[in-house]
Amino acid sequence: MKVAVLGAAGGIGQALSLLLKTQLPAGSELSLYDVAPVVPGVAVDLSHIPTDVKVTGHGKDDLADALTGCDIVLIPAGVPRKPGMDRSDLFNINAGIVRNLVDAIADTCPSACIGIITNPVNTTVAIAAEALKAKGVYDKNKLFGVTTLDVIRAETFVADLKGLDVAGVHVPVIGGHSGTTILPLLSQVEGATFSDDEVAALTKRIQNAGTEVVEAKAGGGSATLSMGQAAARFCLSLVAAMKGDNVVEYTYVQVDSDDAAFFAHPVRLGANGVEEILPYGELSAFEQQAKADMLDGLRGDIQLGVDFVTKA
Ligand SMILES: NC(=O)c1ccc[n+]([C@@H]2O[C@H](COP(=O)([O-])OP(=O)(O)OC[C@H]3O[C@@H](n4cnc5c(N)ncnc54)[C@H](O)[C@@H]3O)[C@@H](O)[C@H]2O)c1
Repeated sequence: MKVAVLGAAGGIGQALSLLLKTQLPAGSELSLYDVAPVVPGVAVDLSHIPTDVKVTGHGKDDLADALTGCDIVLIPAGVPRKPGMDRSDLFNINAGIVRNLVDAIADTCPSACIGIITNPVNTTVAIAAEALKAKGVYDKNKLFGVTTLDVIRAETFVADLKGLDVAGVHVPVIGGHSGTTILPLLSQVEGATFSDDEVAALTKRIQNAGTEVVEAKAGGGSATLSMGQAAARFCLSLVAAMKGDNVVEYTYVQVDSDDAAFFAHPVRLGANGVEEILPYGELSAFEQQAKADMLDGLRGDIQLGVDFVTKA
């Protein structure tokens, strides 16, 4: 199994690479790419950890080498938010970064599974899809927006509020990965009930959790450590599924439904990426309304990504 992290010298990239170095199956390869000159040093640093995972570092002009033979490519490259910004403010810089990196994936390892972390995820995943289509190598089963952070936040907040052991708490989160497009399905949480006020407050907290971190870091960036953990969980689930385990994760994928072209669903992962997109089940009246209210915004975010490639 060869996994590449593009943007590996960044806050997310370093945390994620550390977790993968310690948790990927023995015999795996971890390929780190970044335009920042420190990336070979990050690779040397990680290579001193005694696990059977080979780490290589690749600088600015070495992207093709970083990608050769990859099974999974994770992309946290790009700029993060500062206080006062929402994720769409990142579009101008990050759209081009994602486009260029995905073009290189299409040229070098077109059958790799790709996990997009770079924000705005609602849009960057659509950019990646269009870039892959333009190269004639798009496989909708192999492109994922990583929304696992919304799930782990929701699980943490629910466990805190209800005094539960977080290991046994499962919270579905569907939709997109920005503001109200993040839709936690609290009505489906087993072993906990919520008042209407709790549903409203908790939904809002989950949707704004990223901003909670951005403000607490006071200009120093957005979530990196929790995101590293979330991306590692997603990647390790994909690795396990590729090796034959039955794994379901919530992730933002291309869907064939009336919701939007891309929508986070529970997805059964398999040897070739998406094995089955599972239904997200029945929604409460609150969740139905929240979904109806956000769909136009999500569709607009997706269209922005499509236009970025097709009208360039
Ligand atoms: N999906 C999510 O849930 C989620 C959560 C938090 C942050 N994010 C997003 O992840 C991205 C990275 O956040 P961060 O905190 O790690 O930022 P960071 O600034 O710490 O790191 C970004 C890294 O990307 C590198 N980079 C820039 N352009 C590149 C290119 N063309 N090729 C390769 N590397 C390049 C930079 O050199 C830097 O090392 C941001 O867009 C942020 O909004 C996503």
